[in-house]
Amino acid sequence: MIQRKVDFYRHDLGEAELDSLRETLGTTFLTLGPRVGVFERRLSEALGVPHVVGVSSCTLGLHMVLYAFGVGPGDEVITTPMSFISTPNAALYVGATPVFADVDPATGAIDPEDVVRKITGRTKAILCVHLYGQLCNVRELRTIADRYGLLLIEDAAHGFEAERDGLRPGTLGDAAVFSFYATKTLTSGDGGAVATSNPELDARLRRLRNHGVSKDAASRYGGAYQHWDMMELGFKGALTDIEASLLLPQLDRAEARRARRQAAVEHYEERLRGVEGVTLMRREGKSAHHLFPVLVPRGRREEILVKLGQAGIGCAINYRAIHTLTYYRERFRLPEEALPNAAEIGSRTISLPLWPGIPPEDVDYVCDRLIEAVA
Ligand SMILES: Cc1ncc(COP(=O)(O)O)c(C=O)c1O
Repeated sequence: MIQRKVDFYRHDLGEAELDSLRETLGTTFLTLGPRVGVFERRLSEALGVPHVVGVSSCTLGLHMVLYAFGVGPGDEVITTPMSFISTPNAALYVGATPVFADVDPATGAIDPEDVVRKITGRTKAILCVHLYGQLCNVRELRTIADRYGLLLIEDAAHGFEAERDGLRPGTLGDAAVFSFYATKTLTSGDGGAVATSNPELDARLRRLRNHGVSKDAASRYGGAYQHWDMMELGFKGALTDIEASLLLPQLDRAEARRARRQAAVEHYEERLRGVEGVTLMRREGKSAHHLFPVLVPRGRREEILVKLGQAGIGCAINYRAIHTLTYYRERFRLPEEALPNAAEIGSRTISLPLWPGIPPEDVDYVCDRLIEAVA
């Protein structure tokens, strides 16, 4: 067997980002300054959503959005167990209760019919996720949210480039929250942004991300000293000019990079379609192709992960169903079978290496080793 090393993910930050960073280092502002504003405008134009607020992470963005909308103790937030823990944790941070709805077994996306079944008099918001880079059924979720008077918040950590039926993240939701964490399709190591059509939310988030203070440092700079005032208890949670300078050049090549990930996904699918023991997830709309998950036979994942690891292949699990993780299991005592589709995907999924420019021979190598491992 040819031993290769196939990384799970590789960023492609390079000369353009270094040039952009150099420009920022030549100015006064390293943290919340003018380049954050430039990035916010560019992201807003790219999404076609009027307001964007740069924040320090998607996790804090979700937390601040729920907080800004007044979601708190006694409230319920319906969300998906097939996500990263940040999603339901955001509800816990504001003292609300995350209530899980099951997912579509073919896509892993939150199932709108189960969302309706989980609505109670205490429900305040639906918090959906564009899993793996594919827009979930936001149209249907918006209809449900409007019918029951709920907020619709999109966790768009995987989905900046996603589009479905002419919709982008943030088009229909009350807010969409993005992540620029190290492995995301746009990255500044850490960072995030909130997109919204709601000007009041925009203004509130600008204050909340800056300790609840009336004016940020950049807007007070120049001329005579200007006092600031603390208007409410906020957070330390803004995107920085250093991060914005890394993100700005990536916006120009985001679509080209998405297309290259799609080419790799199509190559994987061509090699793996019809292979016994490998199930492909269903694709809907234009995916950002953040992750490429497959399902392997029940009870065999750990053994397959060991074989792929021994072959030098980097894999990840996105995700074990959140209600089965220790903290959630002990706190909410939901049996695995309460959310059977999420539990099933969570016990069988493996994400294979994916990044723009992954060599076709690496994709072939991963497929060969996977096919051997499931045989
Ligand atoms: C679906 C999802 N939501 C939220 C997050 C949290 O993002 P961040 O690391 O920017 O807080 C992640 C990051 O891994 C994610 O995958």
